[in-house]
Amino acid sequence: MRILLTGKNGQLGRCFQDVLKNTSHELFAYDSTGLNISDAQQVKSVIHTMQPDIIVNAAAYTAVDKAEKEPEAAYLVNATGPGLLAKRAAELNIPLIHVSTDYVFDGEAVEPYLPTDITNPQGIYGASKLAGEQAVAVVCKHHIILRTSWVFSEYGNNFVKTMLRLANERTHVSVVSDQYGCPTYAGDLAHAILQICDQYEQGKPLVWGIYHYCGDIPTSWHGFARAIFAKAKDNRLIVKQPHLNAISTDEYPTPAKRPEYSVMSIYSLNAIGVQAPSWSAGLSLVLSKLV
Ligand SMILES: NC(=O)c1ccc[n+]([C@@H]2O[C@H](COP(=O)([O-])OP(=O)(O)OC[C@H]3O[C@@H](n4cnc5c(N)ncnc54)[C@H](OP(=O)(O)O)[C@@H]3O)[C@@H](O)[C@H]2O)c1
Repeated sequence: MRILLTGKNGQLGRCFQDVLKNTSHELFAYDSTGLNISDAQQVKSVIHTMQPDIIVNAAAYTAVDKAEKEPEAAYLVNATGPGLLAKRAAELNIPLIHVSTDYVFDGEAVEPYLPTDITNPQGIYGASKLAGEQAVAVVCKHHIILRTSWVFSEYGNNFVKTMLRLANERTHVSVVSDQYGCPTYAGDLAHAILQICDQYEQGKPLVWGIYHYCGDIPTSWHGFARAIFAKAKDNRLIVKQPHLNAISTDEYPTPAKRPEYSVMSIYSLNAIGVQAPSWSAGLSLVLSKLV
């Protein structure tokens, strides 16, 4: 199958290229120069020239705090871009697999969010991603939107890499302990997307719509940091585990408000034959690749 991938240099984009390596799919992967998803002409010309069987959108504006100062830029990539991809996918009658975020929710829930729960983003990033979901759904019937959270990988910048750096620089590290979510390895997400592509190719029925895809066991950033330090010490990525202080969100102010509780229910994934991953196993794999 001919798969067109956007955002090839991001965490998900790079992991998706890795998981496609041993498959028979033909991958056409683009960075933001080869295919700027906010550029209507370029989107039209690349998609009509390449005639893909499916589009995977891994491109996004992911600078959550910076987005507060650059709303236009965030909306262009996270809302206009997905809308343009969806329009061309609909014209070719092919599916679009799009990725969104837990930040579409306000974090006030007390139990895991379902895909059907009311959204209420607290910042520009979440609002722009929600606008992207809506732009996709309204134009392209054949869409799968995977909302994911706390993405980490061996690529790019992410929380795992930041913790490793801090552990090697400091004896004490303070991490927020009152925000809860589910870490997700980008490689697992990439694999899930491949599974969806395979099912589509095999003609298996897919229920189009929004799904939640994230690591299996909720934790706090503090809990995640603790796991990172323990495993990194075992892997000798750090010489000594730093003293880990638990702090509150109030003690670590950021320009964009984060949801306090952004745990998402992964139950609905069964409908598309995809399993929720173990983030702990994903973390072990990532650390082994960083040794
Ligand atoms: N990272 C997280 O913790 C997290 C959490 C929840 C959901 N998500 C979602 O998961 C998906 C994948 O995230 P990620 O962590 O892999 O993101 P990432 O590492 O920040 O990669 C995003 C990629 O998008 C590209 N991009 C930006 N603007 C573009 C444009 N106009 N046209 C084409 N490409 C463009 C960037 O390329 P350039 O570098 O060239 O600009 C970058 O390579 C995104 O939809 C994100 O919103 C991420």
